[in-house]
Amino acid sequence: MKRFGLLGFSLLLLPALAAWPHPQAPETSPKKVIEKVPIKPTSASSGEEMYKEYCAVCHGLDGKGNGPAASALKTPPPDLSLLAKNNGGKYPASHVVAILNFGSSAPAHGSADMPVWGRLLSSLQTHRSTPAIVQLRIKNLTDYIESLQAK
Ligand code: HEC
Repeated sequence: MKRFGLLGFSLLLLPALAAWPHPQAPETSPKKVIEKVPIKPTSASSGEEMYKEYCAVCHGLDGKGNGPAASALKTPPPDLSLLAKNNGGKYPASHVVAILNFGSSAPAHGSADMPVWGRLLSSLQTHRSTPAIVQLRIKNLTDYIESLQAK
């Protein structure tokens, strides 16, 4: 009786163990934790460099919303490559600029997972982090996201 129970248990356990190493991201524990780190300096003139450094972790390199941190967010990151398609074929540049400056939803409602980039980019400790440079960064990021649009 007892032995049978144990055997049943190990049979159940085996498939679970076999499945263990398969999900990707083997270097992290199953529960993902988003760690906030100070933002790294990047070139204000390269939308691509800034996107890869600041955005791809959530939105994915191709903008489709599959970055490594995406599954740990309460709100899944939207597919940025569909912004034009979802806006009648016109890339909504001013919407993107506004989101980057001010965040994606009313700050009063708090818990949005999308960082407010205007503030973060101004905090870059470089000698040239003037408001004009911050807007240049946002313009170049906005243009880079335009280049990711699905045709
Ligand atoms: C920590 C994860 C995270 C990072 C990093 C991040 N985003 Fe987001 N982003 C989100 C989430 C989540 C949303 C959806 C937020 C919501 O609906 O309130 C979003 C929304 C957006 C939107 C609005 C899309 C729409 O459909 O209106 C834009 C544009 C955007 N992000 C651009 C960027 C850019 C550019 C960067 C890098 C400078 C960036 N994001 C970095 C998580 C992130």
